[in-house]
Amino acid sequence: MQFGYFDDRNREYVITDPQTPWPWINYLGTEDFFSLISNTGGGYAFYRDAKYRRLTRYRYNNVPMDSGGRCFYVREGDTVWSPGWKPCKTALDRYECRHGLNYTSLLGEKNGVVARVLFFVPLKTHAEVQKLSLTNVTSAVKTLKIFSFIEWCLWNASTDMENFQRNFSTGEVEIGGSVIYHKTEYRERRNHYAYYSVNAPVEGFDTDRESFLGLYNGWEEPQVVKTGVPSCSVAHGWSPVASHCLAVELQPGETKELVFVLGYAENGEQEKWESPGIINKKKARETLDRFSTAARVDEAFAALRTHWDQLLGVFSLRSGNEKLDRMVNIWNQYQCMITFCFSRSASFFESGIGRGMGFRDSNQDLIGFVHQIPERARERIIDIASTQFADGGCYHQYQPLTRRGNNDIGGGFNDDPLWLILGTASYVRETGDFSILEETVPFDNNPDQTGSLFDHLSVSLDHVVNNLGPHGLPLIGRADWNDCLNLNCFSHDPDESFQTTENKSEGTQAESLMIAGLFVVSGREYAGLCLETGREKEAERALAGVDRMVESVKRHGWDGAWFLRAYDYSGNKIGSRENTEGRIFIESNGWCTMAGIGKEEGYCEKALDSVAEQLDSPYGIMLNQPAYTRYYPEYGEISSYPPGYKENGAVFCHNNPWIMIGETVIGRGEKAWEYYRKICPAWLEEISALHKTEPYVYAQMIAGTDAARPGEAKNSWLTGTASWNFYAVSQYILGIRPEYRGLTVDPCLPAAWEGFEVTRRFRGATYCIRVTNPNHVSKGVARVTIDEKPATSCCLPVFEPGTTHRVEVEMG
Ligand code: GLC
Ligand code: GLC
Repeated sequence: MQFGYFDDRNREYVITDPQTPWPWINYLGTEDFFSLISNTGGGYAFYRDAKYRRLTRYRYNNVPMDSGGRCFYVREGDTVWSPGWKPCKTALDRYECRHGLNYTSLLGEKNGVVARVLFFVPLKTHAEVQKLSLTNVTSAVKTLKIFSFIEWCLWNASTDMENFQRNFSTGEVEIGGSVIYHKTEYRERRNHYAYYSVNAPVEGFDTDRESFLGLYNGWEEPQVVKTGVPSCSVAHGWSPVASHCLAVELQPGETKELVFVLGYAENGEQEKWESPGIINKKKARETLDRFSTAARVDEAFAALRTHWDQLLGVFSLRSGNEKLDRMVNIWNQYQCMITFCFSRSASFFESGIGRGMGFRDSNQDLIGFVHQIPERARERIIDIASTQFADGGCYHQYQPLTRRGNNDIGGGFNDDPLWLILGTASYVRETGDFSILEETVPFDNNPDQTGSLFDHLSVSLDHVVNNLGPHGLPLIGRADWNDCLNLNCFSHDPDESFQTTENKSEGTQAESLMIAGLFVVSGREYAGLCLETGREKEAERALAGVDRMVESVKRHGWDGAWFLRAYDYSGNKIGSRENTEGRIFIESNGWCTMAGIGKEEGYCEKALDSVAEQLDSPYGIMLNQPAYTRYYPEYGEISSYPPGYKENGAVFCHNNPWIMIGETVIGRGEKAWEYYRKICPAWLEEISALHKTEPYVYAQMIAGTDAARPGEAKNSWLTGTASWNFYAVSQYILGIRPEYRGLTVDPCLPAAWEGFEVTRRFRGATYCIRVTNPNHVSKGVARVTIDEKPATSCCLPVFEPGTTHRVEVEMG
């Protein structure tokens, strides 16, 4: 069952039934001002930090789940309706929500009036603009009242929902014509205020929630809207809100446009006040002036569309497969950008008040994003590296506003350092900018203790080399990529977090095969960087470590038909045929095959066959099987999840691409493609009612076969799944892979495919690549021509910026 359809020409998903199985959301803004918006107008806005600078309120665990947000009410006689269906839920004659790239438009039609609201955050603007267009499609005059409504959050999203004895007394607003200013705490320590405006004279307004709603009403029937008369309330404490009331008359066929702006401004200490107690509104006025007419809004909207044309122009595919093209060209790249911006902070599954940026998460988010805006990836790499310790260890998370490591969660996750190598390497591959390696970067943000970024990569590698266990395999520490495999934890206290409880790793034998595979891949990557920068000795040293690791994996990490997952605290195997539960895991088999460990001996093929036999399901590859059915203190959080959910037997989508890439290492294009398609949102659109989350973006997990509803997804949007899938499909399936000295084209496809075309902008030049597959092979390149001249390698050279080149690649 579907709730809408893809409009690829406009790069939109069009929702035609407002009652989607879960709110289907979109993100506005990618710079400083951000909003989340659902298909009925729910969601909230914030400036930079979802915890500390929350503009509008959101209620977690609410009933119904997606309440409040941006409310518009259209009142004609006694009929009241909302363009986005909610909050009124009056039956509409037509409803349509178009989620596009950083904008959403909601359309409702009722009794011959069409109301369309376009929401977006213009580039370089600290505001969300909402353009409401009202059209009378009848032959009679229409007399309407329009009410807008938002509810302010008292800035700190966390105390806003806890500290009511204070909150109910602090709220302050100011009203200036059609602009409502929110200035709670501005009188003391805050240098910022928010505002909500409309570009037309109002009949009245409201700024006190209860005066607007009535104490006993919900959003669906505010008192003021019911009577049609605004109460012009001025909030003093309690819950400040902003609502405008406008009278609109429409002649037959007439359209009127109103521009609402929800903005944020900061003032220096000296220019805080216009006059005693009256805030200086200069910045707000400047922004309002930029969007004072619908025409100006349209211009800003066109600029946003052009911005996305450019971003998506870096990699564009014509494969003849509609679903693949739409994911690669539009939605997967879009999700990579959003995940890069938000990390794991704010979604309908993340409160925005919990986590900072993850060290490993942000490094992985880079690999699918770096081609879009490499400069931002560069900044991010330096920020991340600045939180690293001098011994190579890392804070697991850091806070974006301060860029400091997060002490609450601390460090000790032994995979973390290696991701910095992969993140940095993907930046250098994309840009050829080796100068980043020579940047001076502090350790633990201490200006007295610095090294080059290259030094940071060295200590990253050494951190693993210096922390090997009894089998010569990497010690796992608190946990590796799988945060929930807590082998040194032994927690019996329900009030402690598995991630922060004492790490009882003294005397531990807990080793990780996932880190081992990751080490081999990143060690080779590191050696590559060394060779490119004249550090031959260091490259040799790294490769010697890699060789030793490969030997240790072969000797102690091979279980006969697949790679072990780990050794536990006591040295017992995990992910082995000797276990009754958790006999096989995806992560180690992904990384060890990506690393090609034991490829000659047939290990990779065998391991991948075992994955197919034991972990594959109709909804993707599950993380482990059989799932744990009871709590194992020696394994930790993983066994706290009921079978089939999260890290215990769900399809944890993030790691499926590891297997896809592993399949391409041994040339099995059919398998890679089959796995790609299984978890790809565009293919899941038809089962939307079961899948539940948005059909245009990946979710973190899909319930596994042990769950009550296999195939049901959760935690959509902010997941490393986005970047890994883009990386797998673009660099390994389509095979277009940036190298330090060029761009390789080496696809791995189902043999039946005829080929595809890709336009790739790389280091300023444009590569128009046509791949043909006349002999129907899965892998292998027989012939390459560049601008009609034969080439000797499938690694295309770096061309002069600004030039365009035709590349023909014949597989065989
Ligand atoms: C979450 C975390 C990520 C971790 C994964 C598996 O997505 O953000 O860091 O690797 O879960 O546990
Ligand atoms: C929880 C989640 C896991 C995440 C971790 C880190 O354990 O289940 O996915 O990685 O928290 O915050």
